Order: sequence, then structure tokens, then C-alpha cells
Amino acid sequence: MAMPSRATSLTLLSAIAVALLSIQLMFEDDTPLIKCFLDLDYFSSFKSSWISRHRHRKRPGSYDSPCDDFPPDFPPPDTDTTSFFCVDRNGCCNFTTVQSAVDAVGVLSRKRNVIWINKGIYYEKVTIPKTKPNITFQGQGLDTTAIAWNDTANSTKGTFFSASVVVYGVNFIANNISFINVAPIPNPGDVGAQAVAIRVGADQAAFWGCGFFGAQDTLHDDKGRHYFKECFIQGTIDFIFGDARSLYENCQMISIAPPVAAGLKFVDGTVTAHCRTSADENTGFAFVNCSIGGTGRIWLGRAWRPFSRVIFANTFMTDIVAPEGWNDFSDPSSDK
Ligand SMILES: *[C@@H]1O[C@H](CO)[C@@H](O)[C@H](O)[C@H]1NC(C)=O
Ligand SMILES: *[C@@H]1O[C@H](CO)[C@@H](O)[C@H](O)[C@H]1NC(C)=O
Ligand SMILES: *[C@@H]1O[C@H](CO)[C@@H](O)[C@H](O)[C@H]1NC(C)=O
Ligand SMILES: *[C@@H]1O[C@H](CO)[C@@H](O)[C@H](O)[C@H]1NC(C)=O
Ligand SMILES: *[C@@H]1O[C@H](CO)[C@@H](O)[C@H](O)[C@H]1NC(C)=O
Ligand SMILES: *[C@@H]1O[C@H](CO)[C@@H](O)[C@H](O)[C@H]1NC(C)=O
Repeated sequence: MAMPSRATSLTLLSAIAVALLSIQLMFEDDTPLIKCFLDLDYFSSFKSSWISRHRHRKRPGSYDSPCDDFPPDFPPPDTDTTSFFCVDRNGCCNFTTVQSAVDAVGVLSRKRNVIWINKGIYYEKVTIPKTKPNITFQGQGLDTTAIAWNDTANSTKGTFFSASVVVYGVNFIANNISFINVAPIPNPGDVGAQAVAIRVGADQAAFWGCGFFGAQDTLHDDKGRHYFKECFIQGTIDFIFGDARSLYENCQMISIAPPVAAGLKFVDGTVTAHCRTSADENTGFAFVNCSIGGTGRIWLGRAWRPFSRVIFANTFMTDIVAPEGWNDFSDPSSDK
């Protein structure tokens, strides 16, 4: 597969720029997000000049290589309970792609398999199969480490297959890393442009300090029990969707839907689309101590199926949330 071009990276950067703008509008806070991704993009194109200008001064005569700053004695040796796999896009350790490290994890391993991923944007589609439980993705920060791809519903014959990262292995953990779909942001009325950043389709997944960047259908919170702590989730329409049973704590949801002129009633985004189909299902999304901001005018959720269940508790919301709050997805039977 060809690596997405610089044009695609620019789409990513503009998406993140909009997100950053929204955060600043919301919190008047100076987050380093855009700056770091810009640095990374620059890094990939002008690696050597970047290194020589930014690195700390070396002893005279020492050789400058991108691996000089690599932690010594890394990765640590495997233990009875944990295996380590190291990914670095510059080839400073065993693996240069995340998928090749996933492929190296033992089938049905009962150990915790920590895939340590160095700073950088990894342009690849990654699948964690059902046969690979207990994998941890350890990034270096949601603003410095990311996995990105650009499939869409059209390019994969269905939204569900468009995800940049797919998790089918149980017990998955991600720390301090971002999941991104850099497909073009759809214009209103576009068909087939849904572009998922991650599909979480296995039980017992946890995300700590992670970023999820996309527009329509960013985070496919598909099925199983999931926990999200201090995560950043960007989108436009249905940006958290699926039939999982999930708890989101201290997370920020940022809409990048186009701004709606004052006085217009038009709604152009929605945070959630939960998919509970019957009263027997124990699924739902609970958001506690979160915040919602950004641009556009959005609903908190629309009922994808008649028994959709979403709760926002102690959540700060800007006035981009439409006063009616929710939408029945054109199915009045869902209103009850
Ligand atoms: C993804 O990016 C590549 C490289 O820029 C491009 O050729 C391809 O058409 C893109 N895919 C989609 C679905 O937009
Ligand atoms: C990774 O590299 C180390 C040496 O740095 C080696 O001992 C180890 O076997 C390698 N692991 C894999 C899975 O290739
Ligand atoms: C690995 O996954 C299995 C279930 O597939 C679970 O029983 C076991 O406790 C897990 N091990 C670790 C270290 O998480
Ligand atoms: C994530 O990054 C933050 C900030 O650098 C750090 O304090 C925290 O320990 C990291 N957490 C994990 C689980 O990697
Ligand atoms: C998706 O495919 C349909 C049918 O070929 C086409 O009409 C539509 O414009 C495509 N959407 C995008 C975003 O390319
Ligand atoms: C609520 O979230 C904010 C920001 O994410 C955090 O600083 C604060 O500690 C959280 N409060 C509780 C009670 O967890």
C-alpha cells in the first residue's frame, strides 16, 4: 500500500488545527498539539536538518544519528508475565511498523504484550486479530505518537471496514497515543465519506490519555466493555458510535462541524449514535466529568436503534449543543 501523500498529511494537520482552535475557544488554553504534529511532519520530510538543528549539543567527534536519543538498554528483557516489542519508524529498534510488532506477538499469549511505540506518525492500517489478546500500545503522548490511515466507507465497501486501527483481541490497552483517520472531511451531503479512526470490537479494552481524530464516525465503540480516561475525541457526525458498554471519564469531545450562523436552527453534528437494539441489552455510553465543545451546532446523540442509551453526568457543555439535546434519527418510536 502506498503511503499517504503530503496532501493527506495536510488534511490531518488542518483537522488538528481546527480541533486546536476549538479547544482554545473552549478553554483558552495553549495546547501543544498542533505544534508537535507539525514538528513530526517536518521531521519526516527534512529529518536530517531537523535533527541537526534541534538536538542538544554533542561531544565533539560523536556521530549524530536519529537513534542517539534512544533509551539505553531498551527494550527491557521479557519476564514471566510481560513481553516487550519495540517500534521505531527510523529503525532504531526491532520493528518499524506497528503491524509487524503485532504480528510478532505470540498467538493466544497469556502474557501482557507491551508494544512500545516511539514518537512519530505511523501511516499504516493496523489490525489486532482475535488470536492476539493482552496487547498494550504504549505511545509517547497523544500529541506526538499516532497511527493514521485514510480509508473511507467508499474505499472499503462499508463504514465498519474503514478504521485505521481495528481491535478484535480482548484485553487491549492503549496509553498516550492517537488514532487518526486522515480521509478528507466530508462536505454536507457527501455519501460514503465516513472514515473511522478505530474500531474497538473486543471485550475489556482501556484507553488512557489517547486521542481519536476524524470527522464522521471517528470512534467505533463497537462492542464489549471499554474504559476511556482523559481522552480527546474529535468528530462531526456520530463521532462516538456503536453498541459497546463504555465509561468515559475526564474526556474532551470536540466537534469540528462547520459553524452555524447565529439565529439558524440548523444542526450539523452529533456526539453519539448508540446502537442498543433491545431492552435486554446491557450496553450504553456513560460520560462522567467530561466536556463538549468546538464548532457547529450538535446533538448530544441520536438514537441509532430504538433502545440507544447514553448518559452525560457532570459534563461541561458549550452552547454548540442544541437546546433539545437529542434526536430520534427520524424514528419516532425511539422517542420513548
Ligand atoms: C489515501 O491516500 C492515498 C495517497 O494520498 C490516495 O492515493 C488514496 O486515494 C487515499 N484513499 C482514499 C480512500 O481517499
Ligand atoms: C528484539 O531485539 C533484541 C535485541 O535488541 C533481541 O534480543 C530480541 O530477540 C528481538 N525481538 C524480536 C521479537 O525480534
Ligand atoms: C490474557 O488474556 C486472557 C484471556 O484471553 C486472560 O485470561 C489473562 O488474564 C490475560 N493475561 C494478562 C496478563 O492480562
Ligand atoms: C502518559 O503521559 C503522561 C504525560 O507525559 C504521563 O504522566 C503518564 O504517566 C503517561 N501514562 C501512561 C500510562 O503512559
Ligand atoms: C462514494 O461512492 C459513490 C458511488 O460511487 C459516489 O457517488 C460518491 O461521490 C462517493 N463518495 C465520496 C466521498 O467519494
Ligand atoms: C474532571 O476532569 C478534569 C479535566 O479532565 C480533571 O482535571 C479533574 O480532576 C476531574 N475531576 C474528577 C473528580 O475526576
